[in-house]
Amino acid sequence: MCLVTPTTGQTITCKAAVAWGPKAPLVIEEIQVEPPQAQEVRIKITHTSLCHSDVTFWEAPVEVFPRIFGHEAAGIVESVGEGVLDLKPGDHVIPVFTGECGNCKYCKSPRTNICANYAVDALRGTMKSDGRTRFSIQGKPIFHFMGTSTFSEYTVVDQAQVVKVDPTAPLDKICLLGCGIATGIGAVWKTAKVEAGASVAVFGLGAVGLAVVAGAKIAGASRIIAVDLNPAKFAKAKVFGATDFLNPKEHDKAIQCVIQEMTGGGVDYSFECVGNTSVMRSAYESCQPGWGKSVIVGVDGSNKMLEINPLEFFSGRIWTASVFGGFKCKSDLPDLVDKYMSKELEYDEMITHTRPFSRINEAFSLLQKGESLRCVIEVEA
Ligand code: APR
Ligand code: ZN
Repeated sequence: MCLVTPTTGQTITCKAAVAWGPKAPLVIEEIQVEPPQAQEVRIKITHTSLCHSDVTFWEAPVEVFPRIFGHEAAGIVESVGEGVLDLKPGDHVIPVFTGECGNCKYCKSPRTNICANYAVDALRGTMKSDGRTRFSIQGKPIFHFMGTSTFSEYTVVDQAQVVKVDPTAPLDKICLLGCGIATGIGAVWKTAKVEAGASVAVFGLGAVGLAVVAGAKIAGASRIIAVDLNPAKFAKAKVFGATDFLNPKEHDKAIQCVIQEMTGGGVDYSFECVGNTSVMRSAYESCQPGWGKSVIVGVDGSNKMLEINPLEFFSGRIWTASVFGGFKCKSDLPDLVDKYMSKELEYDEMITHTRPFSRINEAFSLLQKGESLRCVIEVEA
């Protein structure tokens, strides 16, 4: 077993897609990637896909630029820093934006996937250990994103955010488990715990919403109502198991009233997969008083408040949210990869496009125009 690669301990010069400012098209640059420090891992990214949250923070007028985005990916460990015991060069891995240190109060509890030490923080642009970046261009630092920065041939990630998976699993497919697919599936299986026979409504039919539809089908839901403003999304939703299709634009009354009428009170479970506070409100009202549970999955970056009169909670509806589908990355993700390999979980239809690394900007426009669900970017030539 060879634990030292020729590049171990060396700074690597490689290509990365650098965002120089908010909304500025990415530029493929030659950058330097330092070796991993203690408890860090340097990964050769083979495939990465564009997720909505990359776009959200690329558009945000924050100071954390230049920056390397990307958080949905798969790759191979190139080298590990001191003290990394569970990973070695050659391991196939998925980096995850929400880590699992294994030692904090949260990690030790089965009740949450939040980690006190590696909780998601989209505004942090440096490594945890020393507050520096591992990326630079001609000596100028380039900031990290979500601790993952996968739009690069090589990246450095804290070991708590690196998950070792089955080396026979196709990296160009399992990269999707790094965010969107796991998020949607987990929202159904872990957060809502949808049971056989239940009725479900899904708002927003991007990759996340479609993963909710797929998860609900596998859980045995009897009715899956798919809601989207873009009717072009309904065909794929049907493939994944949706039974009813609603376009809010085609109804005179509020969509929650339509759903209440269709179901005689409301669905057992509803999921918001858009990232819009008013859709969150509709999803909440679409579920059955007494026991209906509404799960917020979408991320609203606008800082808006949710409005609710506390008396409404006496209706007995439950309102909650889900991050990374409630999955603890190291404990739960390998099992999801195994389910993909055994075809218990199928989502290849989610990959509507692939592009070489040099054409990564096309992935942005495809997602923004609603033309793609997931575009897989081949980082490794
Ligand atoms: N009602 C219903 N559907 C809507 C509405 C609305 N008011 N507004 C937008 N949509 C639909 C869009 O037409 C699109 O099909 O929501 C879908 C969103 O899909 P994507 O943009 O592809 O996003 P996705 O990657 O699935 O992520 C969804 O989850 O993780 C979060 O940050 C992510 O907030 C985002 C959400
Ligand atoms: Zn922890």
